[in-house]
Order: sequence, then C-alpha cells, then structure tokens
Amino acid sequence: MNTSIDITDLFIMAGIEHKGRVQITHEDMSGLEPHPKNDWLYLGLLSLKEIAKREGVFIRSSAFIGSGNGIETIAALKLFPNLETIFITDLVKNIQPAIIKNITANANEELKGIRTYCLEGRDCSPLSEPVDLIYGNLPLIMIDQREIEKHRLSLTTLTDEQMYMHLSQGPYDMLTRWSLLSQLGFLLSAKEKLAPGGSILTFIGGRIPYYAIEQCFRRAGVGYRKLFTSFKRQSDGQFFKQYAEYETKEGVDFAFYDYKEAVEILRQKLGIIAPEIIVDIEDADLKILLAPTLISANKAYENYQKGMSVGHIAHAFEAWND
Ligand SMILES: C[S@@+](CC[C@H](N)C(=O)[O-])C[C@H]1O[C@@H](n2cnc3c(N)ncnc32)[C@H](O)[C@@H]1O
Repeated sequence: MNTSIDITDLFIMAGIEHKGRVQITHEDMSGLEPHPKNDWLYLGLLSLKEIAKREGVFIRSSAFIGSGNGIETIAALKLFPNLETIFITDLVKNIQPAIIKNITANANEELKGIRTYCLEGRDCSPLSEPVDLIYGNLPLIMIDQREIEKHRLSLTTLTDEQMYMHLSQGPYDMLTRWSLLSQLGFLLSAKEKLAPGGSILTFIGGRIPYYAIEQCFRRAGVGYRKLFTSFKRQSDGQFFKQYAEYETKEGVDFAFYDYKEAVEILRQKLGIIAPEIIVDIEDADLKILLAPTLISANKAYENYQKGMSVGHIAHAFEAWND
C-alpha cells in the first residue's frame, strides 16, 4: 500500500508553519482523520506547541512513543530549536524505516546534527537514556495478544493485556475495569526515563470517568494537568466494536455521544463549533451538558453500523515526576 497524506492543514490548524506530506506505506502505520481536528494529532501538536511556548529552548532531548507515522516528531523538530537527541519508537516492527523517511522528507534541515534513534519496542523500554520530553498517544483497550495476532487487529486501539495485568490490584481495581492499566504502565515507564524537570504528554479519551483518570496518574506517582479538551468524531468501526466488547466483559458503560446532537448542544450552550478546543467549562459540567446525548460503546457500535455519527470527549495531559 502507499497512501500519501497532506499534513499542511493539520499544521496550519495547530498554528505550526509547515507544508508537506507523509507516506503511509504499511497497513500498520497510522493515517490521519479526514478533518485534521478530529485526529488525536491535533491535540498532540497543540500540546507540543504549548510546551514549546513555555520551555522550547530548554528541551534538548525528546521521545515519541508509538509514532505510527512520524508526524508528531516533524512538529517537534519545527518547534524545539535546541534538540540534540530524539527517540522515535513504535511497537510494530518494520515501520521504522518508513517513519524516518517521513521525518526526513519534512524536516531534513532541522534533523541535521541531532542524534536520532528510530526503534521498535513497548512504552519507554527502547530509550537508552533519560529525556526532557516524552510524547505518547497509546491504545487503552486490553485484549489477549492471541486475538490481536489471529485477527491481525490494529495496535492503535488495542494492547496486549498480559503486559499490564501485573499492575492490576484485583477484579475491583478501577484501572482494570476502565482499561487504564496500559496507561499506568506507560506512565511508570515514562517516569523512569524522564530527565529532572521533564514533561510527559499523554492523551486519554473522556470515555471513562475522570476519577479513574485521576487515579491512574496518582498510582503512577506523577503530577499532572489537563492541557486541552475537545469533542471528536470517531469514524473507526473497529474501535467501537472493541470498546463494546470490553464494556460487556467488564460490566461498565463507556461514554460516547450521538455526534450530531452533541455538536448542536456545544454550539448552542457554549458557542463552540466542534471539533474546536473546548474551553471555560469543567469536565463534570461538560459531561452534564452532553448527558442527553450519552450512549454506551455497545450503542455507539450499533449506531455506527446504522450509519449514524458518534463522538467522544478527548483530553491531552501533561505529567511530570512529583
Ligand atoms: C493511536 S496511534 C498514535 C499515532 C500518533 N503518534 C498520534 O499521536 O496520534 C498508536 C501508535 O502506537 C503504537 N503502539 C501501540 N502500543 C504501543 C506501546 N505500548 N508502545 C509503543 N508503541 C505502541 C501503535 O502501533 C501505533 O502506531
């Protein structure tokens, strides 16, 4: 396969000056949503920009965990003028050369003189030294690895449960129930590889209660703050199916929303045209506002199959060693 994606609009929308394209040459590489603001990378680039605004000149080393296509690394190379070392990783084998090709095609000048490692591996285990900034937008739904292999399922939504179940505190552990153990595993590994004063950028869907997210950061022993919230349209059917299956297995209800109705509420009550960033409202109040349009993952999957649009809340967080 070879799909060429124009990343210019994404960069313009995130306020980063750059025109270019990336090539998706492998089925396990991540693409981009048709509307760039519906892609996690929109929150990703805004978050990198936020860090750059505050301490861009102090960032000398950075790691991009689960890069998938290299886009966030291209943005970082444009934003951090004093980078000396970068690590780009993905759990998937064989896509590293294509990721590097995308990065060099878009940021060859910026890359000059930077020690660059593009590696295969889970979470922060491939990093051989601490870094100032760690970026990871990683999947949350835990499933048996044999299922992933048997059905050739994508690692954008799914992760191998065996790698994280040792972090569970038992069947009533809220991080197990809300499938946050892999996020906890990522944060623990990032904490170990974070240089003093460094930051972790991580991205979590608001499909789960905020208290569970809070618990995840607390158990990782990191301080955190929310950088951005948006309301995204989700267009991947496989994604709903996997959340629906996990929901049934654990007896929880994930929070998805009827997209059209939710967008209308956001417009009427907050004057926000989704998927613009949501500001000036607390998470609890946002959920109350959108409650009339709330649906479970099972319902979301059903609606998706009927051709209806589904959305969900998305958050970008910054975390640091406490
Ligand atoms: C949701 S995509 C993120 C793509 C892009 N970096 C972004 O910010 O939107 C997740 C990527 O992480 C990879 N991945 C999944 N689990 C991982 C893990 N535990 N460690 C490293 N990479 C992982 C997947 O193969 C996929 O390329």
